[in-house]
Amino acid sequence: MSTKHGASTTGRAAPARKVAAEVLAAARDDDAYANLLLPARIAQAKLSPGDAALATELTYGTLRMQGRYDRIIRLAANRETSAIDPVVLDVLRLGVHQLVATRIPPHAAVGDTVALAPRRATGFVNGVLRTVARSTPEEWDARVTGELTGDARLAAEYSHPEWVIDALRRSLDADGRVDELEELLAADNVAPAVSLVALPGLVSVAEVGEPGGISPTGIQAVGGDPASVPAVAAGTARVQDEGSQLAALILSRARAIVPGERWLDMCAGPGGKAALLAAEALIGGAELVANELVPVRAKLVRRALAVFNPAPRVVEGDATRFATSDPGGFDRILLDAPCTGLGALRRRPEARWRKQPADIPGLVALQTRLLDAAVAALAPGGLLAYVTCSPHPDETRAAVARVLKRHSELSAVDTRAVAADIATSELGPGVGPAVQLWPHRHGTDAMFVQLLSKVDA
Ligand SMILES: C[S@@+](CC[C@H](N)C(=O)[O-])C[C@H]1O[C@@H](n2cnc3c(N)ncnc32)[C@H](O)[C@@H]1O
Repeated sequence: MSTKHGASTTGRAAPARKVAAEVLAAARDDDAYANLLLPARIAQAKLSPGDAALATELTYGTLRMQGRYDRIIRLAANRETSAIDPVVLDVLRLGVHQLVATRIPPHAAVGDTVALAPRRATGFVNGVLRTVARSTPEEWDARVTGELTGDARLAAEYSHPEWVIDALRRSLDADGRVDELEELLAADNVAPAVSLVALPGLVSVAEVGEPGGISPTGIQAVGGDPASVPAVAAGTARVQDEGSQLAALILSRARAIVPGERWLDMCAGPGGKAALLAAEALIGGAELVANELVPVRAKLVRRALAVFNPAPRVVEGDATRFATSDPGGFDRILLDAPCTGLGALRRRPEARWRKQPADIPGLVALQTRLLDAAVAALAPGGLLAYVTCSPHPDETRAAVARVLKRHSELSAVDTRAVAADIATSELGPGVGPAVQLWPHRHGTDAMFVQLLSKVDA
C-alpha cells in the first residue's frame, strides 16, 4: 500500500494513525494547514467519531510537541533527526507521541506505528520505538532537558523554537506579565476548548447554550461536533474564539452606532469577525463592506455573510487601495492584519515550526502599509481597530507606536477600558491602552487590540 506521499507501508496500520501520518506528511511536504486538512481527511476516510478524535489528538499532539519528540528520537536512535528520512521521522514522531503522551498501551503504539513505516524502515522504527518504550516519559524529559538552562531548557521542555520563546517573553514583559512565560508555553500545548459565537439579532446566547468566559456573545461548546448544534447548522451561531469575538465587539460597541455609519473590514477572510460586525451593523443601522485580497478567502467571506439580509457587500483586492479609492470614507475600520499568528499556536499546531524570524520584517512592512491606508480611509472622528492574532511586540505595540508617530491626527483610545465594559469577566491587569489577551489567562488566543481615533476635523 502507498500513502499519498509515497511511503509504502505494510498495510496493517489502524485508520486513525494512517490519517494522522498522512496529515503530518502533507504539513511537511505541502505546507498544508493541519486544522484545514485533517477534517477533510477524516471525512474521506469515513472515520468513526472515536477514530476521528484519536486522529485529531495524534496529529495535533505530534505537531505541537515535535521539538521535544525530536530530542527524544535523537537520543533513542543515536543519530541526528536530519539524518532520518522525513517519512520515517514522521512515523517515529507519531510513535513517540503515543508512547510518552497518551495512554495507548506501548505494544499497540509500537505495533500500529511500525505498520505505518515504509517496509525498508520497519526494523529501524521498531528498534527506536522499543527503546523509547523502555523508559518513562519523566525519564525521557530528564534526559532531554539534561544540563540545559534558560531558553534552551524551555524550548526542550515546552517544544517551542527559542526565537518564539524570546518574542513571547518580550510581549508578556510589555504587558507586565513576564513571570507567566511558562504558563503561556504550557497553554500553547493544550488543545483549545471549542467556543461558539451567537450572532446578535439572529440568535441569543441562551438559545444556543451556556455563556462563554469573556465575550458577551460567546458560548461554551459542549463536546461533539459543533455542526450538530441547530443554530450552527442554521448559520446563526458559529465556531469562533472568544478573543476574536471580543476584538470585533470592541470596535462595534466602543460607542453607540449612528444609523448610516459606514464600516470597513479591510482583511476579512475567512469572515469570522466580519460576521459578528455584520450582525452588529445590521442592528445599529450601519453599512459594512468586507474586503479580502485572496479570492478563495473572499468566497469564504461571502459564505460567512450570506445569512444576513441584506448581506453586506464583499469586495476583493489589496486593502491599501481604500486610501485613494475612498479617502475618509469609513466611520469604523477593522484592520485584522496578516501576522505571524504566534497568538494562535494552540490552534495551528504546525505554525511554531513553520514561522521564521525572517518572516517578521515583511509582515511588519505590510502591516505598516495597511495601517497607513486605514488611517487615510478613516473619516474624521472615526474609529480604527488594529488587531493581530500575534502578541509579537514588533507586530503589536511597536506597530501602534510607529503609526501614532507618523499620524498626528490619530490618538490611542483606552481600549482596555472599552473592553472592560464589554467583557463578561475581568480582563485583569495590563500595561498601556491596548488589550492583550492570553491563552493562559483568558482562555482565548493571544489577540492584540488597539483602538485608534482620528481627530475630528
Ligand atoms: C488575520 S486574517 C483575517 C481574519 C479575519 N478577520 C477573520 O476574523 O476571519 C488576515 C487576512 O488578510 C488577508 N490579506 C493579506 N494581505 C492583504 C491585503 N493587502 N489586503 C487585504 N487583505 C489582505 C489575508 O488573505 C487574510 O485572509
